[in-house]
Amino acid sequence: MNLFDLQEKTLPNHYKEMTNDQLRERATQLKKKLGNDLFIPGHHYQKDEVIEFADSTGDSLQLALVSAKNQKAKYVIFCGVHFMAETADILTNEQQTVILPDMRAGCSMADMANLHQTEKAWEELTAVYGNTIVPMMYVNSTADIKAFVGRNGGATLTSSNAKSMLQWAFKQKKRVLFLPDQHLGRNTGYDLGIPLHEMTVWDPLKNEIIADKKNTISETKMILWRGHCSVHENFTVEHIEELRHHEPDRRIIVHPECTWDVVQQSDDSGSTKKIIDTIESAPSGSKWAIGTEMNLVNRLIKNNPDKDIVSLNKEMCPCLTMNRIDLPHFVWALDSIDQGNMINVIKVERDIAADAKNAIERMFQFV
Ligand code: 13P
Ligand code: SF4
Repeated sequence: MNLFDLQEKTLPNHYKEMTNDQLRERATQLKKKLGNDLFIPGHHYQKDEVIEFADSTGDSLQLALVSAKNQKAKYVIFCGVHFMAETADILTNEQQTVILPDMRAGCSMADMANLHQTEKAWEELTAVYGNTIVPMMYVNSTADIKAFVGRNGGATLTSSNAKSMLQWAFKQKKRVLFLPDQHLGRNTGYDLGIPLHEMTVWDPLKNEIIADKKNTISETKMILWRGHCSVHENFTVEHIEELRHHEPDRRIIVHPECTWDVVQQSDDSGSTKKIIDTIESAPSGSKWAIGTEMNLVNRLIKNNPDKDIVSLNKEMCPCLTMNRIDLPHFVWALDSIDQGNMINVIKVERDIAADAKNAIERMFQFV
């Protein structure tokens, strides 16, 4: 990255000096000025100061769907993380421009798989298992791996539709390579009745299968990429045991990016949308502990004052990369459109986008 790129990608100082009121006023004014030329999707993990300006909020599946549907807005300011903005760019048309307000808003899980590692794994795994594997990719991944999956007959999935997507996958081939979140893979496979000894783990750093004595090649149904979410791994069985000991009547709901043990010991699990729907439809006075990102947990606490809601982990922080999108970066993105000098444009190469779109559209059959 040269100095010019860096200047382009770094928030100019005057945005840091503006007060919150000034920033909100500017955002309101520019949003109104741009009208239907602008579309702002916002993920549930975003800060309140940004969600306030979103035209549509949702989990990753919902945001992919609304991005595909809106073919009119010239500009999409995506309030979420990089892989979500890439997906929006893949699903919008050539005339539309997708902007991510801060390019540092990545996802540590998506960083745990790159194309080179995936191609290497594919070579080694097909040498062991033959032509029996279909690659299934959690959307929390880069566009070039989604394209690899599209080229190899696989599909993307999210935590909202992981179960039906795996059922689809097992109709295509005998085995699934599940990338990059081993926990979502294990939790979903187990939910479908696949025992743990029929799952192995692929270590992309060592380029090898990690299998215990019970795993045999012929029995293996799922090969789980050794990736995880550094936010959701902070919820542990110890948190659940402590809570059950002191408050046995508090129900626990977690995101399926949590480990298998945590999901097994919770009362329920599901995507951010499912967590929100469950809490909102719960009876007044009910008590909940939630195992997911803190911006969302705090919003649920604020919006449901008739319920007693806590985080499953009292020490929990927000997802740091989601949190990179703040009001100053958001206003910077708006200003850049207004001044005709757009910053932080997300552009996926045409060939990659075409193959990745195949993988995503296979998923859209199951929404
Ligand atoms: P959802 O699809 O449930 O919104 O999850 C996205 C995500 O990144 C969770 O960490
Ligand atoms: Fe990625 Fe985890 Fe943050 Fe979701 S919560 S965006 S998986 S790092």
